[in-house]
Amino acid sequence: MKTFNKILIDIKGKIGYLTINQPKALNALDSEVLQELNEALTEIQNNADIQVVIVTGAGEKAFVAGANIKEMSQKTPIEGMTFSELGNHVFSKLSNLKQPTIAAVNGFALGGGSELALACDIRIASETMKIGQPEVALGIIPGFGGTQRLSRLVGVAKAKELIFTGKNIKADEAEKIGLVNKVVAPEELMTEAETLANQILKNAPFAVQQSKVVIDKGLELPLDHALTLEADTFGLCFATEDQTEGMSAFIEKRSSKFKGQ
Ligand code: CAA
Repeated sequence: MKTFNKILIDIKGKIGYLTINQPKALNALDSEVLQELNEALTEIQNNADIQVVIVTGAGEKAFVAGANIKEMSQKTPIEGMTFSELGNHVFSKLSNLKQPTIAAVNGFALGGGSELALACDIRIASETMKIGQPEVALGIIPGFGGTQRLSRLVGVAKAKELIFTGKNIKADEAEKIGLVNKVVAPEELMTEAETLANQILKNAPFAVQQSKVVIDKGLELPLDHALTLEADTFGLCFATEDQTEGMSAFIEKRSSKFKGQ
């Protein structure tokens, strides 16, 4: 796997770790970080050894404290639009990764940081997390998907409250509104994310990946069409060796050995 300047990729077993590694700037996302993420995500998508991805930020203090304000302060309107398009491209690539993704949110997750967590499938938060979309306090709006993914996740009214006020909320409140799946002590954050990853890894990889596609794409379709997509994909699973293995193992009262075939 290629090495990068501002992010880290590590693979342990079947888990890929993607870390924004700019702790002195609280992992703020500048254009270089976004370009590196773009490249890294292509590598992850094409790496059959990685079956679950954990996304986090380096250091104790922040997951990601937002898009880089120093870089943005110099932008023209067209450059601002291009920056937002880049962020949206990269975060949609993350959201569309075939592998399930878990954000391990270790501290401030503000603006682009909240949006990075929102682009993951599941969010585990440290008790120290503070999450929010403070963009309006800077005279801008969320630009890396926050207006859309936040409202789809927590509902329009809560998303409007968070975005219009720009306030940060703590981990327990974020859990209450369904913005994060679980809250744990800071020292347990990575273990908890890995426990969840290992629970996913016990299952047939193709079935996990296809359930992600059907949930995500189905939400954009009328219910009838979404259920047709589900039925078609359900049928497709019967073409896999892992379906034969999973059902044989059940009938033979043994644990299954999936091969991802
Ligand atoms: N961009 C650039 N640099 C940032 C940054 C950001 N988003 N957030 C923090 N930093 C830098 C600070 O400038 C500081 O660097 P220097 O030491 O060189 O001055 C360093 O990180 C440490 O930050 P602080 O000294 O501010 O740390 P703190 O503990 O006093 O405060 C904080 C922490 C409350 C998170 C504060 O840093 C903060 O408010 N950051 C900005 C949060 C924000 O507004 N994020 C949204 C950005 S807009 C956006 O993301 C748009 C979008 O949707 C795409």
